[in-house]
Amino acid sequence: MRATDVIATKRDGGELSTEEIRWIVDGFTRGDIPDYQMAAWLMAVYLRGMSHRETVDLTQTMARSGEQLDLSPIIPYAVDKHSTGGVGDKVSLVVLPLVAAAGIPVAKMSGRGLGFSGGTLDKLESIPGYRVTLTDDEFMQQVREHGIVLAGQTKSLAPADGAIYALRDVTATVSSLPLIASSIMSKKLAAGANAIVLDVKVGIGAFMHDLDEARALAQIMVDIGTTAGRKMVALLSDMNQPLGATVGNAIEVREAIETLRGGGPTDLREHCLVVAGHMVRLGRQDISPNALPDAMAELTELLDSGRGFDKFRELVAAQGGDVRVVDDPARLPQAPITVSIPATQAGTIAQVNALLVAQAALELGAGRARKGDAVDPAVGVEVHIKVGDQVAADSTIFTVHAANDDTLARARALLDQALSISPQPQEALPMFYDTIYGE
Ligand code: URA
Repeated sequence: MRATDVIATKRDGGELSTEEIRWIVDGFTRGDIPDYQMAAWLMAVYLRGMSHRETVDLTQTMARSGEQLDLSPIIPYAVDKHSTGGVGDKVSLVVLPLVAAAGIPVAKMSGRGLGFSGGTLDKLESIPGYRVTLTDDEFMQQVREHGIVLAGQTKSLAPADGAIYALRDVTATVSSLPLIASSIMSKKLAAGANAIVLDVKVGIGAFMHDLDEARALAQIMVDIGTTAGRKMVALLSDMNQPLGATVGNAIEVREAIETLRGGGPTDLREHCLVVAGHMVRLGRQDISPNALPDAMAELTELLDSGRGFDKFRELVAAQGGDVRVVDDPARLPQAPITVSIPATQAGTIAQVNALLVAQAALELGAGRARKGDAVDPAVGVEVHIKVGDQVAADSTIFTVHAANDDTLARARALLDQALSISPQPQEALPMFYDTIYGE
Protein backbone atom coordinates (compact mmCIF):
# COMPACT_ATOMS: atom_id res chain seq x y z
CA MET A 1 0.00 0.00 0.00
CA ARG A 2 1.17 3.56 -0.62
CA ALA A 3 0.36 6.48 1.69
CA THR A 4 -0.23 8.79 -1.28
CA ASP A 5 -2.98 6.47 -2.60
CA VAL A 6 -4.73 6.33 0.81
CA ILE A 7 -4.52 10.13 1.11
CA ALA A 8 -5.77 10.62 -2.45
CA THR A 9 -8.75 8.28 -2.00
CA LYS A 10 -9.93 10.30 0.99
CA ARG A 11 -9.05 13.63 -0.64
CA ASP A 12 -11.34 12.70 -3.56
CA GLY A 13 -14.22 11.72 -1.25
CA GLY A 14 -13.79 7.95 -1.50
CA GLU A 15 -14.41 5.44 1.27
CA LEU A 16 -11.32 3.74 2.71
CA SER A 17 -11.27 0.03 3.41
CA THR A 18 -10.70 -1.36 6.90
CA GLU A 19 -7.22 -2.50 5.78
CA GLU A 20 -6.30 0.97 4.49
CA ILE A 21 -7.35 2.64 7.77
CA ARG A 22 -5.42 0.10 9.85
CA TRP A 23 -2.40 0.42 7.59
CA ILE A 24 -2.12 4.21 7.82
CA VAL A 25 -2.92 4.49 11.56
CA ASP A 26 -0.68 1.61 12.64
CA GLY A 27 2.08 2.79 10.30
CA PHE A 28 1.96 6.29 11.75
CA THR A 29 1.94 4.99 15.35
CA ARG A 30 5.01 2.83 14.60
CA GLY A 31 6.77 5.82 13.02
CA ASP A 32 6.76 4.39 9.48
CA ILE A 33 4.40 7.04 8.09
CA PRO A 34 5.85 10.55 8.49
CA ASP A 35 3.98 13.46 10.08
CA TYR A 36 3.51 15.27 6.77
CA GLN A 37 1.61 12.38 5.19
CA MET A 38 -0.52 11.78 8.29
CA ALA A 39 -1.25 15.52 8.45
CA ALA A 40 -2.41 15.46 4.81
CA TRP A 41 -4.59 12.43 5.54
CA LEU A 42 -6.12 14.08 8.62
CA MET A 43 -6.93 17.19 6.58
CA ALA A 44 -8.57 15.01 3.92
CA VAL A 45 -10.67 13.33 6.67
CA TYR A 46 -11.48 16.75 8.12
CA LEU A 47 -12.74 18.03 4.77
CA ARG A 48 -14.41 14.86 3.46
CA GLY A 49 -15.66 13.24 6.69
CA MET A 50 -15.94 9.51 7.31
CA SER A 51 -18.68 6.93 6.92
CA HIS A 52 -19.90 5.12 10.03
CA ARG A 53 -17.87 2.05 9.07
CA GLU A 54 -14.70 4.10 8.57
CA THR A 55 -15.19 5.87 11.93
CA VAL A 56 -15.66 2.54 13.71
CA ASP A 57 -12.56 1.13 12.00
CA LEU A 58 -10.51 4.18 13.00
CA THR A 59 -11.76 3.92 16.61
CA GLN A 60 -11.06 0.19 16.87
CA THR A 61 -7.59 0.59 15.35
CA MET A 62 -6.69 3.32 17.86
CA ALA A 63 -8.26 1.39 20.77
CA ARG A 64 -6.10 -1.64 19.92
CA SER A 65 -2.90 0.37 19.41
CA GLY A 66 -1.77 -0.10 23.02
CA GLU A 67 -2.71 -2.00 26.13
CA GLN A 68 -6.35 -2.70 26.86
CA LEU A 69 -7.71 -2.94 30.35
CA ASP A 70 -9.46 -6.21 31.13
CA LEU A 71 -11.72 -5.68 34.11
CA SER A 72 -13.70 -8.90 33.58
CA PRO A 73 -11.95 -10.97 36.30
CA ILE A 74 -13.12 -8.40 38.88
CA ILE A 75 -16.14 -6.68 37.37
CA PRO A 76 -18.24 -8.97 35.19
CA TYR A 77 -20.14 -6.03 33.72
CA ALA A 78 -18.23 -2.72 33.98
CA VAL A 79 -19.86 0.70 33.60
CA ASP A 80 -17.92 3.88 32.87
CA LYS A 81 -18.75 7.53 32.36
CA HIS A 82 -17.10 10.23 30.31
CA SER A 83 -17.66 13.97 30.19
CA THR A 84 -16.54 15.92 27.15
CA GLY A 85 -15.32 18.61 29.56
CA GLY A 86 -17.03 21.46 31.29
CA VAL A 87 -16.69 24.32 33.75
CA GLY A 88 -17.31 23.37 37.37
CA ASP A 89 -17.72 19.74 36.32
CA LYS A 90 -17.07 17.80 39.53
CA VAL A 91 -19.69 15.17 38.62
CA SER A 92 -17.29 12.18 38.77
CA LEU A 93 -16.40 13.01 42.39
CA VAL A 94 -20.04 12.59 43.40
CA VAL A 95 -21.28 10.00 40.93
CA LEU A 96 -18.60 7.33 41.28
CA PRO A 97 -18.88 6.87 45.07
CA LEU A 98 -22.65 7.02 44.76
CA VAL A 99 -22.75 4.30 42.10
CA ALA A 100 -20.28 2.20 44.10
CA ALA A 101 -22.48 2.67 47.19
CA ALA A 102 -25.36 1.22 45.15
CA GLY A 103 -23.27 -1.93 44.68
CA ILE A 104 -22.01 -1.30 41.14
CA PRO A 105 -18.19 -1.43 41.15
CA VAL A 106 -16.45 1.46 39.37
CA ALA A 107 -12.88 1.50 38.07
CA LYS A 108 -12.22 4.85 36.47
CA MET A 109 -9.18 6.35 34.87
CA SER A 110 -9.51 10.11 34.82
CA GLY A 111 -7.52 12.89 33.22
CA ARG A 112 -6.01 16.22 34.10
CA GLY A 113 -7.48 19.51 33.03
CA LEU A 114 -6.20 21.41 30.03
CA GLY A 115 -7.23 24.89 28.94
CA PHE A 116 -10.51 26.04 30.39
CA SER A 117 -11.84 22.66 31.48
CA GLY A 118 -10.74 21.24 34.80
CA GLY A 119 -9.65 17.65 35.40
CA THR A 120 -10.82 15.25 38.07
CA LEU A 121 -7.25 14.27 38.99
CA ASP A 122 -6.26 17.88 39.71
CA LYS A 123 -9.30 18.26 41.94
CA LEU A 124 -8.55 15.07 43.86
CA GLU A 125 -4.95 16.12 44.39
CA SER A 126 -6.15 19.01 46.55
CA ILE A 127 -6.76 16.32 49.18
CA PRO A 128 -3.33 15.93 50.86
CA GLY A 129 -1.82 12.50 50.27
CA TYR A 130 -4.33 11.31 47.62
CA ARG A 131 -2.39 9.14 45.18
CA VAL A 132 -3.56 9.40 41.59
CA THR A 133 -0.73 7.19 40.31
CA LEU A 134 -1.35 3.52 41.07
CA THR A 135 0.31 0.41 39.73
CA ASP A 136 -1.81 -2.03 37.72
CA ASP A 137 -1.92 -4.35 40.72
CA GLU A 138 -2.94 -1.59 43.12
CA PHE A 139 -5.65 -0.44 40.70
CA MET A 140 -7.14 -3.93 40.41
CA GLN A 141 -6.70 -4.72 44.11
CA GLN A 142 -8.57 -1.58 45.10
CA VAL A 143 -11.61 -2.36 42.94
CA ARG A 144 -11.63 -5.86 44.39
CA GLU A 145 -11.48 -4.62 47.99
CA HIS A 146 -13.44 -1.38 47.86
CA GLY A 147 -15.51 -1.54 44.68
CA ILE A 148 -14.13 1.84 43.64
CA VAL A 149 -10.91 3.27 42.24
CA LEU A 150 -10.38 6.71 40.73
CA ALA A 151 -6.88 7.24 39.41
CA GLY A 152 -4.81 8.41 36.44
CA GLN A 153 -4.14 6.13 33.52
CA THR A 154 -2.10 3.11 34.66
CA LYS A 155 -1.62 1.72 31.16
CA SER A 156 -0.67 3.07 27.81
CA LEU A 157 -4.23 3.22 26.50
CA ALA A 158 -4.74 4.09 22.82
CA PRO A 159 -1.27 5.56 22.12
CA ALA A 160 -2.28 6.06 18.45
CA ASP A 161 -4.85 8.60 19.65
CA GLY A 162 -2.18 10.50 21.62
CA ALA A 163 0.09 10.69 18.57
CA ILE A 164 -2.72 11.64 16.19
CA TYR A 165 -4.18 14.22 18.60
CA ALA A 166 -0.79 15.97 18.89
CA LEU A 167 -0.73 16.30 15.09
CA ARG A 168 -4.39 17.44 14.88
CA ASP A 169 -3.64 20.11 17.45
CA VAL A 170 -1.05 21.77 15.18
CA THR A 171 -2.76 21.20 11.82
CA ALA A 172 -6.21 22.75 12.49
CA THR A 173 -7.89 19.32 12.30
CA VAL A 174 -9.22 18.98 15.87
CA SER A 175 -12.81 20.03 15.24
CA SER A 176 -13.88 17.14 13.00
CA LEU A 177 -16.77 15.05 14.34
CA PRO A 178 -15.41 11.61 13.26
CA LEU A 179 -11.94 12.51 14.58
CA ILE A 180 -13.28 13.74 17.95
CA ALA A 181 -15.68 10.82 18.32
CA SER A 182 -13.04 8.20 17.48
CA SER A 183 -10.51 9.89 19.77
CA ILE A 184 -12.83 9.83 22.79
CA MET A 185 -14.29 6.39 22.10
CA SER A 186 -10.92 4.71 21.42
CA LYS A 187 -9.84 5.53 24.99
CA LYS A 188 -13.19 4.43 26.43
CA LEU A 189 -13.11 1.11 24.57
CA ALA A 190 -9.51 0.47 25.65
CA ALA A 191 -10.48 1.19 29.29
CA GLY A 192 -12.60 -1.97 29.36
CA ALA A 193 -16.18 -0.83 30.03
CA ASN A 194 -19.18 -2.84 28.87
CA ALA A 195 -21.52 0.15 29.18
CA ILE A 196 -20.71 3.86 28.93
CA VAL A 197 -22.62 6.99 29.93
CA LEU A 198 -21.44 9.98 27.92
CA ASP A 199 -22.04 13.48 29.27
CA VAL A 200 -21.76 15.63 26.16
CA LYS A 201 -21.59 19.28 27.15
CA VAL A 202 -22.98 21.95 24.90
CA GLY A 203 -22.72 25.71 25.17
CA ILE A 204 -20.29 28.61 25.54
CA GLY A 205 -18.15 26.77 28.09
CA ALA A 206 -17.96 23.51 26.12
CA PHE A 207 -16.07 22.11 23.19
CA MET A 208 -19.33 22.01 21.22
CA HIS A 209 -21.16 25.34 21.14
CA ASP A 210 -24.06 24.28 18.99
CA LEU A 211 -26.78 21.82 20.02
CA ASP A 212 -27.13 20.20 16.59
CA GLU A 213 -23.38 19.65 16.37
CA ALA A 214 -23.24 18.24 19.90
CA ARG A 215 -26.15 15.94 19.08
CA ALA A 216 -24.38 14.74 15.93
CA LEU A 217 -21.18 14.07 17.94
CA ALA A 218 -23.14 12.21 20.62
CA GLN A 219 -24.91 10.08 18.00
CA ILE A 220 -21.61 9.13 16.33
CA MET A 221 -20.11 8.11 19.69
CA VAL A 222 -23.22 6.12 20.64
CA ASP A 223 -23.12 4.36 17.24
CA ILE A 224 -19.41 3.54 17.59
CA GLY A 225 -20.00 2.07 21.06
CA THR A 226 -23.06 0.10 19.96
CA THR A 227 -21.23 -1.37 16.97
CA ALA A 228 -18.40 -2.35 19.32
CA GLY A 229 -20.93 -4.22 21.48
CA ARG A 230 -21.22 -1.66 24.29
CA LYS A 231 -24.44 -0.36 25.81
CA MET A 232 -24.45 3.41 25.40
CA VAL A 233 -26.29 6.47 26.69
CA ALA A 234 -25.36 10.03 25.79
CA LEU A 235 -26.76 12.99 27.72
CA LEU A 236 -26.65 16.41 26.10
CA SER A 237 -26.18 18.81 28.99
CA ASP A 238 -25.96 22.57 29.30
CA MET A 239 -22.59 24.27 29.63
CA ASN A 240 -23.53 27.88 29.02
CA GLN A 241 -23.23 28.60 32.74
CA PRO A 242 -20.94 26.75 35.20
CA LEU A 243 -22.25 23.52 36.72
CA GLY A 244 -22.86 23.82 40.46
CA ALA A 245 -21.51 26.76 42.42
CA THR A 246 -17.72 26.44 42.28
CA VAL A 247 -14.95 26.47 39.67
CA GLY A 248 -11.50 25.51 40.94
CA ASN A 249 -9.99 22.50 42.67
CA ALA A 250 -10.28 22.41 46.48
CA ILE A 251 -13.51 24.43 46.33
CA GLU A 252 -14.97 21.90 43.89
CA VAL A 253 -13.97 19.04 46.21
CA ARG A 254 -15.71 20.86 49.06
CA GLU A 255 -18.86 21.20 46.96
CA ALA A 256 -18.73 17.52 45.96
CA ILE A 257 -18.48 16.58 49.65
CA GLU A 258 -21.46 18.82 50.50
CA THR A 259 -23.43 17.14 47.72
CA LEU A 260 -22.45 13.68 48.97
CA ARG A 261 -23.75 14.73 52.38
CA GLY A 262 -27.18 15.44 50.91
CA GLY A 263 -26.65 19.20 50.38
CA GLY A 264 -24.90 21.04 47.56
CA PRO A 265 -26.38 23.07 44.72
CA THR A 266 -29.65 21.78 43.27
CA ASP A 267 -28.38 21.63 39.69
CA LEU A 268 -25.30 19.60 40.61
CA ARG A 269 -27.32 17.19 42.76
CA GLU A 270 -29.87 16.63 39.99
CA HIS A 271 -27.18 16.26 37.33
CA CYS A 272 -25.31 13.67 39.40
CA LEU A 273 -28.49 11.70 40.11
CA VAL A 274 -29.29 11.46 36.39
CA VAL A 275 -25.74 10.37 35.40
CA ALA A 276 -25.52 7.93 38.32
CA GLY A 277 -29.06 6.67 37.61
CA HIS A 278 -28.09 5.70 34.07
CA MET A 279 -24.90 4.02 35.31
CA VAL A 280 -26.77 1.96 37.89
CA ARG A 281 -29.49 0.95 35.46
CA LEU A 282 -26.90 -0.05 32.84
CA GLY A 283 -24.75 -1.81 35.46
CA ARG A 284 -27.74 -3.94 36.46
CA GLN A 285 -28.73 -4.41 32.83
CA ASP A 286 -32.18 -3.32 33.91
CA ILE A 287 -34.40 -2.68 30.91
CA SER A 288 -37.67 -2.15 32.79
CA PRO A 289 -39.52 1.08 31.92
CA ASN A 290 -39.03 2.45 35.43
CA ALA A 291 -35.36 1.55 35.66
CA LEU A 292 -34.11 5.16 35.62
CA PRO A 293 -36.58 6.67 38.13
CA ASP A 294 -36.16 3.63 40.40
CA ALA A 295 -32.37 3.92 40.30
CA MET A 296 -32.57 7.68 40.94
CA ALA A 297 -34.86 7.15 43.95
CA GLU A 298 -32.41 4.63 45.41
CA LEU A 299 -29.46 6.96 44.77
CA THR A 300 -31.31 9.87 46.38
CA GLU A 301 -31.60 7.74 49.49
CA LEU A 302 -27.88 6.91 49.36
CA LEU A 303 -27.05 10.62 49.09
CA ASP A 304 -29.36 11.68 51.88
CA SER A 305 -28.34 8.86 54.25
CA GLY A 306 -24.63 9.68 53.77
CA ARG A 307 -23.77 6.27 52.28
CA GLY A 308 -22.40 7.91 49.14
CA PHE A 309 -20.27 10.11 51.38
CA ASP A 310 -19.01 7.06 53.32
CA LYS A 311 -17.91 5.50 50.02
CA PHE A 312 -16.06 8.67 49.03
CA ARG A 313 -14.31 8.63 52.42
CA GLU A 314 -13.38 4.97 51.86
CA LEU A 315 -12.00 5.85 48.40
CA VAL A 316 -9.87 8.68 49.77
CA ALA A 317 -8.52 6.49 52.59
CA ALA A 318 -7.75 3.63 50.17
CA GLN A 319 -5.74 5.97 47.92
CA GLY A 320 -3.73 7.44 50.80
CA GLY A 321 -5.64 10.73 51.16
CA ASP A 322 -6.10 12.53 54.47
CA VAL A 323 -9.67 11.66 55.52
CA ARG A 324 -9.66 14.42 58.13
CA VAL A 325 -10.04 16.75 55.15
CA VAL A 326 -13.09 14.84 53.96
CA ASP A 327 -14.63 15.03 57.44
CA ASP A 328 -13.78 18.70 57.75
CA PRO A 329 -13.41 20.39 54.33
CA ALA A 330 -12.22 23.58 56.09
CA ARG A 331 -8.87 21.75 56.18
CA LEU A 332 -8.64 21.84 52.36
CA PRO A 333 -6.09 24.30 50.95
CA GLN A 334 -7.32 27.88 51.44
CA ALA A 335 -6.36 30.90 49.33
CA PRO A 336 -4.92 33.89 51.21
CA ILE A 337 -7.34 36.35 49.59
CA THR A 338 -11.14 35.93 49.50
CA VAL A 339 -13.20 38.73 47.97
CA SER A 340 -16.96 38.97 47.37
CA ILE A 341 -18.16 40.61 44.18
CA PRO A 342 -21.64 42.15 44.49
CA ALA A 343 -24.26 42.80 41.82
CA THR A 344 -24.09 46.33 40.47
CA GLN A 345 -27.85 46.55 39.95
CA ALA A 346 -31.05 44.72 40.86
CA GLY A 347 -32.68 42.53 38.21
CA THR A 348 -32.66 39.01 36.78
CA ILE A 349 -29.51 37.12 35.84
CA ALA A 350 -29.46 36.87 32.04
CA GLN A 351 -26.00 35.34 31.60
CA VAL A 352 -23.16 33.80 33.61
CA ASN A 353 -20.74 33.12 30.77
CA ALA A 354 -19.13 29.78 31.60
CA LEU A 355 -16.11 30.38 29.36
CA LEU A 356 -15.29 33.73 30.98
CA VAL A 357 -15.72 32.26 34.49
CA ALA A 358 -13.36 29.46 33.46
CA GLN A 359 -10.86 32.00 32.10
CA ALA A 360 -11.08 33.87 35.41
CA ALA A 361 -10.29 30.62 37.26
CA LEU A 362 -7.39 30.05 34.86
CA GLU A 363 -6.02 33.56 35.59
CA LEU A 364 -6.23 32.74 39.30
CA GLY A 365 -4.08 29.64 38.69
CA ALA A 366 -6.75 26.94 39.06
CA GLY A 367 -6.07 25.46 35.60
CA ARG A 368 -3.21 25.04 33.19
CA ALA A 369 -2.66 26.89 29.93
CA ARG A 370 0.00 24.37 28.82
CA LYS A 371 0.41 20.68 29.51
CA GLY A 372 2.64 20.19 32.56
CA ASP A 373 1.87 23.58 34.20
CA ALA A 374 1.24 23.39 37.96
CA VAL A 375 -2.23 24.20 39.30
CA ASP A 376 -2.94 26.04 42.55
CA PRO A 377 -5.42 23.86 44.49
CA ALA A 378 -6.67 26.69 46.70
CA VAL A 379 -7.84 29.29 44.18
CA GLY A 380 -11.06 29.55 42.18
CA VAL A 381 -14.44 31.21 41.83
CA GLU A 382 -17.66 30.61 43.73
CA VAL A 383 -20.73 31.40 41.64
CA HIS A 384 -23.74 32.23 43.82
CA ILE A 385 -26.33 32.70 41.08
CA LYS A 386 -27.91 30.95 38.10
CA VAL A 387 -29.50 32.34 34.97
CA GLY A 388 -33.10 33.30 35.81
CA ASP A 389 -32.39 34.18 39.48
CA GLN A 390 -33.62 37.50 40.83
CA VAL A 391 -30.93 39.55 42.55
CA ALA A 392 -30.98 42.67 44.68
CA ALA A 393 -28.35 45.36 44.12
CA ASP A 394 -25.39 44.51 46.39
CA SER A 395 -26.21 40.80 46.71
CA THR A 396 -23.08 38.66 46.33
CA ILE A 397 -22.64 37.21 42.83
CA PHE A 398 -19.13 35.75 42.95
CA THR A 399 -16.61 34.99 45.68
CA VAL A 400 -13.06 34.97 44.34
CA HIS A 401 -10.35 32.92 46.07
CA ALA A 402 -7.01 34.36 44.92
CA ALA A 403 -3.32 33.93 45.63
CA ASN A 404 -2.41 37.58 45.04
CA ASP A 405 -3.79 40.99 44.02
CA ASP A 406 -2.61 40.77 40.40
CA THR A 407 -4.44 37.56 39.58
CA LEU A 408 -7.44 38.84 41.56
CA ALA A 409 -7.64 41.99 39.40
CA ARG A 410 -7.40 39.99 36.15
CA ALA A 411 -10.05 37.53 37.32
CA ARG A 412 -12.38 40.35 38.42
CA ALA A 413 -12.20 41.98 34.99
CA LEU A 414 -13.26 38.71 33.34
CA LEU A 415 -16.04 38.08 35.88
CA ASP A 416 -17.43 41.56 35.26
CA GLN A 417 -17.76 40.66 31.58
CA ALA A 418 -19.18 37.21 32.37
CA LEU A 419 -22.25 38.54 34.14
CA SER A 420 -25.25 40.18 32.63
CA ILE A 421 -28.28 41.37 34.64
CA SER A 422 -31.53 42.28 32.91
CA PRO A 423 -34.51 44.30 34.08
CA GLN A 424 -36.73 41.72 32.28
CA PRO A 425 -37.60 38.24 33.63
CA GLN A 426 -35.30 35.53 32.20
CA GLU A 427 -35.94 31.82 31.72
CA ALA A 428 -33.75 29.42 33.69
CA LEU A 429 -31.49 27.32 31.44
CA PRO A 430 -32.39 23.66 30.98
CA MET A 431 -29.96 21.20 32.54
CA PHE A 432 -30.32 18.59 29.80
CA TYR A 433 -31.32 19.06 26.18
CA ASP A 434 -31.66 15.46 25.09
CA THR A 435 -30.75 11.84 25.77
CA ILE A 436 -29.56 9.47 23.05
CA TYR A 437 -29.85 5.75 23.71
CA GLY A 438 -27.82 2.99 22.09
CA GLU A 439 -29.04 -0.15 23.82
N1 URA B 1 -11.35 14.98 23.71
C1 URA B 1 -10.62 13.96 23.20
O1 URA B 1 -10.22 13.05 23.92
N2 URA B 1 -10.34 13.97 21.87
C2 URA B 1 -10.75 14.94 21.03
O2 URA B 1 -10.48 14.88 19.86
C3 URA B 1 -11.50 16.00 21.57
C4 URA B 1 -11.80 15.99 22.93
